[in-house]
Amino acid sequence: MTTRTPVRPFRSREWFAAPGRSDMAALYLERFMNYGITPDELRSGKPIIGIAQSGSDIAPCNRIHLETVKRVREGILAAGGVPMEFPLHPIFENCRRPTAALDRNLAYLGLVEVLNGYPIDAVVLTTGCDKTTPSSLMAASTVDIPAIVLSGGPMLDGWHEGELVGSGTVIWRSRRKMAAGEIDEEEFLKRAMESAPSAGHCNTMGTASTMNSIAEGLGMSLPGCAMIPAPYRERGQIAFETGRRIVEMAYEDLRPSKVLSRQSFLNAIKLLTAIGGSTNAQPHLNAMARHAGFTLDAADWMAGYDLPLIVNMQPAGAYLSERFHRAGGIPAVLRVMIEAGAIDGSVATVTGRTLAENVAAAPIKDADVILPWAAPLKERAGFLVLKGNLFDFAIMKTSVIGEDFRARYLSRPGAEGVFEGRAIVFDGSDDYHHRINDPALAIDENCILVIRGSGVLGWPGSAEVVNMQPPDALLQKGIQSLPTLGDGRQSGTSDSPSILNASPESAAGGGLRWLRTGDTIRIDLNTGTCDALVDMAEIARRLAEETIPAVPQSNTPWEELYREKTGQLGDGGVLEFALKYRRTSEKVPR
Ligand code: FES
Ligand code: MG
Repeated sequence: MTTRTPVRPFRSREWFAAPGRSDMAALYLERFMNYGITPDELRSGKPIIGIAQSGSDIAPCNRIHLETVKRVREGILAAGGVPMEFPLHPIFENCRRPTAALDRNLAYLGLVEVLNGYPIDAVVLTTGCDKTTPSSLMAASTVDIPAIVLSGGPMLDGWHEGELVGSGTVIWRSRRKMAAGEIDEEEFLKRAMESAPSAGHCNTMGTASTMNSIAEGLGMSLPGCAMIPAPYRERGQIAFETGRRIVEMAYEDLRPSKVLSRQSFLNAIKLLTAIGGSTNAQPHLNAMARHAGFTLDAADWMAGYDLPLIVNMQPAGAYLSERFHRAGGIPAVLRVMIEAGAIDGSVATVTGRTLAENVAAAPIKDADVILPWAAPLKERAGFLVLKGNLFDFAIMKTSVIGEDFRARYLSRPGAEGVFEGRAIVFDGSDDYHHRINDPALAIDENCILVIRGSGVLGWPGSAEVVNMQPPDALLQKGIQSLPTLGDGRQSGTSDSPSILNASPESAAGGGLRWLRTGDTIRIDLNTGTCDALVDMAEIARRLAEETIPAVPQSNTPWEELYREKTGQLGDGGVLEFALKYRRTSEKVPR
């Protein structure tokens, strides 16, 4: 295998076999021998395959990769490569304060520097928890060396007293039950623990499963990779195959720029609808597309809106990832979509074959979980893009609009899909928690809860706080959700039909900053508009009167730099200056 000639000379040769620079090569070589690598291995012409390790004790969703990489290494060695593992900046969604959103761009920056600055010819990206996938793929595009995604896989399905309990989703649902007095704290904790029964990332179609599914849909992983549960034997097997495949990709010089196309990103938007994916996919997909050189606009997103939801998984449906995997997983969904003409199967993938070729024989093994395109779980189930006088861009995940919510708000005869409500405005989540149960606000079912100061600049990082729970008094009356709106995000495991990611955010001067409690907001799902019914003169008066609200001070150097350089969620929340750096691997650093 090592006698094969790579399409593009391996860049590691510049370090280890630089002609006429044996002094430098010796310097580069000597320390690797510390752990037993021989000079021969490094000089044999074999590709050096990086393994970006995202798992650690503080990144528990990805910790399974401490195991999977053993099989990746064996695959790399079996195919004639030299593995070199290194850490990715840890990203753990649930614990990172003030928010893990800060880490996506930081891990991106770190990975770019490692891939660019070290003798690495190709890389295995180990992914899992929400932002590990987009950060890795963003970096792979910037550097543009052959790259393949290996998901760690979701946890096994969680069960509580004979009922499926999904990670994240159980928290939102149990919080409402606790506020309504139906369960106590101990029961809450028990449910939470049982929703997380094994190693792996969230077992709902939250952001983690969504982003790993998207990586597969983009053709950046081996088929089936996203949904194999972390503890299954197939996880170790696909880790081995991923290791083998990346060595071939190194020889073929099959880089992200040859796999990813505008068409593959448009496919991903549509896949998102079919699986009922997380609203966090919007900034992440925009970010991945922009780093790969493509733009996704409101019309591109709306192309996904009209499509059906066919995967019956929480939070939009009933089941969890283990069952979805056994039903056929992402390959089966992609095949259905290609056969329905909903996505373009001719796009390239890391296998060297097209997406359609990869999934041509993928079976549906459980019709309760993967439904037919013509008889879906829900019609028109994508993200609705909204705009109006409060923001230029926001999204709403329509697949989680429940029947009670639809009946209460969206089914008035003659005004279907139109809702008018009294705004209750909160400045960040502390303000929300302090005041949500304040009787003076007189919150009833005709209110819309608004949160601002929760975006990229305001939080900073943008927080998952828009899925605000109604006041306890309403929950006790059986009202599970109110319409909500905000310039932050919400958890992908949430079942709230919120208006999210409003850009520009209040802290960037967006319209939410002049909104006041008591204003009427009109949302029209038919036209994709959301406006405060406040006249221009009054808006001008308020703007003249008010300054942009102060944001909490940055607490670390990165928070300050992040705020300075990061754009709005509607544009992917990327480090805007970084976009001009493309295909950096084409120039080996001096
Ligand atoms: Fe890490 Fe859900 S919290 S995957
Ligand atoms: Mg999440």
